[in-house]
Amino acid sequence: MKNIELRGSKLAFIDQNMLPHELIYVETDDYKVVAENIKSLSIRGAPAIGVAGAYAVAIAVLNSAQTDLQLFKKEFYDICDYIEVVRPTAVNLSWAVEKIRAQVDRAGVASVQELKDVVLEEAHRIYQGSIDESRQIGLYGSELVQEGSRILTNCNDGMLCAVEYGTAAAAWYVAKEQGKNVEVIACETRPLMQGARLTAWECLQNKIPVTVCTDSMAGYVTANKMADMVMLGADRIATNGDTANKIGTYMLARLAHAHNLPFYVVAPTSTIDLSIDHGDDIAIEQRSPSEVTCCGGKKMAPEGVNVLNPAFDITPGTLIDAIITEKGIVRAPFEPGKIAEHCNG
Ligand code: MRU
Repeated sequence: MKNIELRGSKLAFIDQNMLPHELIYVETDDYKVVAENIKSLSIRGAPAIGVAGAYAVAIAVLNSAQTDLQLFKKEFYDICDYIEVVRPTAVNLSWAVEKIRAQVDRAGVASVQELKDVVLEEAHRIYQGSIDESRQIGLYGSELVQEGSRILTNCNDGMLCAVEYGTAAAAWYVAKEQGKNVEVIACETRPLMQGARLTAWECLQNKIPVTVCTDSMAGYVTANKMADMVMLGADRIATNGDTANKIGTYMLARLAHAHNLPFYVVAPTSTIDLSIDHGDDIAIEQRSPSEVTCCGGKKMAPEGVNVLNPAFDITPGTLIDAIITEKGIVRAPFEPGKIAEHCNG
C-alpha cells in the first residue's frame, strides 16, 4: 500500500483525517486542493509533505493550458512559491519544491512540454527517493532494535508519514521482517492524535503489538521500565543535532535521559537543514486554538480561554543518542561538522 501516488495527471493520497475509521484515497488534479490537504493534515509527516508538494507542482504544470513559455515559467515559479510555505516546520516541503525549481533552472527549458517533462521527472525522483530511503533507514534503524524491544514513540513516523515504510517505524517494520518480536507504545499525541489514530492503526495493519497511552503517561511508562528506548521521527534537524519534531518529543527526550533510555531520531537526510546551526532558528508552526479546545467534536475548554498550540517542539541535540538516516547511524556527540559530513558523505 502506498500513502501517495500519481495516477495519470492526478495525485492520489490517503486522507489521514479519516483514519482509523475509514481508509479513503482522495484523487485530485488541483494543486490548491493538495495544499489545503497538507494544511489540514490529511497529508502529513515530513517526507510525505515533501513528496506531495513535489507532485502538487507536477499536477499544476501538467494540467496547465498555458502555451507561452515565458508565461508558463512565471506560472511555475508562482506555484512553487505558493506550495512551499503551506507548512513551515518540516523542511522536506521547501526542500522538495526547491529541488524542482533548481532542476528547471539547470535544464534551461526551451518549451512548455520540456518544462512539464523536467518537473514530472524530478517529482518522480523525489517520490522514488523517499521509497528507497525509507527502506535503507529501516535497515540501519533495525540494527538498534533488539529481540523483544519495547519502543516508545510519538506522533506517526510510519508509511503514513512517507510513501512506504516511513522513518522510525521503518526500523521496527524491518526488525519484524528479520524475525525480531517488537512492541510499540504509542503516545496518543494530543491535540490531533496521530499516535492513537495513525501509529496504532499502522501497527495493527502490520501485526505489531501496540499499546496507546496518553502523552502524560509517558513518565509512568519510562519510570516503570515499560519501554527500552524512545525512537521517533523529525521534521527538521539543525547541524548541531537540535531536532524539531511533534509536540511532546522534548518531554520524551527529558524522560529518556532521566531514566537512562536511549533516545533515537530517525529521518532522511532531506530532513536535515544544513543552513541551520541551532534549533532556535527553526520556525515552529502555531496551529488553530480550536484543535486544543475541541476533542472529538466536543468543546473541552470554556469559551474565551487563552490557548497554546505549537505543533512542534525542539529537542536539544545533547539529549539525542543517535540520528539514523538512509546513510547510516550518526552517534552523539554531534560535534561541529559531524552531521553535515554525514549528509555530504
Ligand atoms: O504535524 P504532523 O503530523 O505533520 O507532524 C509530523 C511529525 O512530527 C512526525 O513525527 C515527523 O514528521 C516524523 S516523520 C520523519
